[in-house]
Amino acid sequence: MHKLIDKPDQSCLLIALSVVLASLVSFSDAEVHYHEFVIQAQPVKRLCRTHKIITVNGQFPGPILEVRDGDSLVIKTTNIAQYNVTLHWHGVRQLANPWADGPEYVTQCPIQPGGTYTYRFNIQKQEGTLWWHAHSKWLRATVYGALIIYPKVGLPYPFLTPNQEIPILLGEWWDRDPMDVLRQALFTGAAPNVSDAYTINGQPGDFYRCSNQETAVFSVESGETVLLRFVNAALNQELFFAVANHKLTVVGVDAAYTKPFTTSVIMIAPGQTTDVLLTADQSPSRYYMAASAYHSSQNAAFDNTTTTAILEYKSESCSARRQSSQVLVPQLPASNDTATATAFTAGLRSPSKISIPNNIDENLFFTVGLGLINCSLPSPNCQGPNGTRFTASMNNVSFVLPTALSVMQAYYQGVSGIFSADFPPVPPIQFDYTGNVSRGLWQPVGGTKVYKLKYGSAVQIVLQDTSILSTEDHPIHLHGYQFSVVGMGFGNFDAARDMPKFNLVDPPVRNTIGTPPGGWVAIRFVANNPGVWLMHCHIDSHLVWGLAMCFLVENGEGEQQTVIPPPPDLPKC
Ligand code: C2O
Repeated sequence: MHKLIDKPDQSCLLIALSVVLASLVSFSDAEVHYHEFVIQAQPVKRLCRTHKIITVNGQFPGPILEVRDGDSLVIKTTNIAQYNVTLHWHGVRQLANPWADGPEYVTQCPIQPGGTYTYRFNIQKQEGTLWWHAHSKWLRATVYGALIIYPKVGLPYPFLTPNQEIPILLGEWWDRDPMDVLRQALFTGAAPNVSDAYTINGQPGDFYRCSNQETAVFSVESGETVLLRFVNAALNQELFFAVANHKLTVVGVDAAYTKPFTTSVIMIAPGQTTDVLLTADQSPSRYYMAASAYHSSQNAAFDNTTTTAILEYKSESCSARRQSSQVLVPQLPASNDTATATAFTAGLRSPSKISIPNNIDENLFFTVGLGLINCSLPSPNCQGPNGTRFTASMNNVSFVLPTALSVMQAYYQGVSGIFSADFPPVPPIQFDYTGNVSRGLWQPVGGTKVYKLKYGSAVQIVLQDTSILSTEDHPIHLHGYQFSVVGMGFGNFDAARDMPKFNLVDPPVRNTIGTPPGGWVAIRFVANNPGVWLMHCHIDSHLVWGLAMCFLVENGEGEQQTVIPPPPDLPKC
């Protein structure tokens, strides 16, 4: 089961460096947290080479934001990098406040080099782990950090208070400038180069060249329970994660608690977060924590490497008489192990009965998948399969970002010509979505289309993966909302067969959910947050190909049902 790896002892040294989260010492109620985020280039050495990467405040990963439910954040963002940038607070509801959400050209124009924008928002009825990241091109490859939301003062977790909390941000590293990787892919129309490493808190770990001096080490006391707050910040890859010899008990996902669920491996898709309890109940030693790809698509290249960090028992690390310097490696599932990935995702439940809309006002069915654009002539811009360009779509619409103004501003100011409100509620043509799809259906149409929702409407969306090019797990993220995941399955969704099996009692509440490869997932939510909200695949290579759409939720009539006025410093396009 386990391999043994020789590893020189650096543990006593690293204890001093390890992250210890100071407990919050505040007794007031809601607080306002002020931060200055400077988007700037910073030289960083990984895999033997130094690259200038884009960071917040020179930190990689970026600063950890720690707040309580009910608090407010004021983040003055100054861009001194060479790229346009925006920041997104992934999973924050942003009630009636789309101006602070961040996706470029959807709710705001980007902050240009030299520009400043202050994001102001509140945390309302959310607890757990969220995160923030750049929402422009591929900048989130290096511009990301954790956003940790503690319960209000005096309120406990719905589980035994852990002795220690450790944020674990999983990332992806290119031995090139990620913006160049993207630029090349968009020029050639081919798939972008895969990453060269995965990272844990910015470090690839012992299995990569020039990396083992900086491997992340987490120290625990024998017997203590640790809350691990996972974020999958990787650009393009679902990941499996395990710790040698240790069980993991999931207690929350996407800042919503879950029924405790014990497993030896978790699967986490880009955009998702997972809160896990780990008890240091093994013999004092050092154990590898490791993550590697869950790759569901066929015949597409992927990064097949493994990132590691070390879980180190303190009694072990400082014992002068310690005999062994070996570290146990956990067994991770095979990269194509859809059964394990699905069992994990489908095993999650809300802690108890939740309220779910029953009478559906909007019954939506969206196909989700890749496509190919045909080229009439051979061209350097058509280096995809058989001289094509890769693309992606929902309901055959490949989302095109506007450039003159954001969708939200165009809506708010009544500017026409930026978007149209004719996103189709069902695919324009019905076909055997997961069967052998005729080549004539592989090329979508481009457009900036939104789907209008009345305030307060009860929405169900079935997200149906297609087999165009390949079936695949597409982690779909909805901005501005949390939704209930009421059902999932393989093959084509069949309402008569599948709806009666929906879990309308204790489904998990999330902001990002993957389509099972060659299958479907059904979500429900009440459209109680007015504004323009992007829904997209959180695999950034798919996002830039157009795997996105927007909801436009109209204002309601009551208090807090109307989009607040835009802040005066909202960037101009
Ligand atoms: Cu975390 Cu639109 O993204």
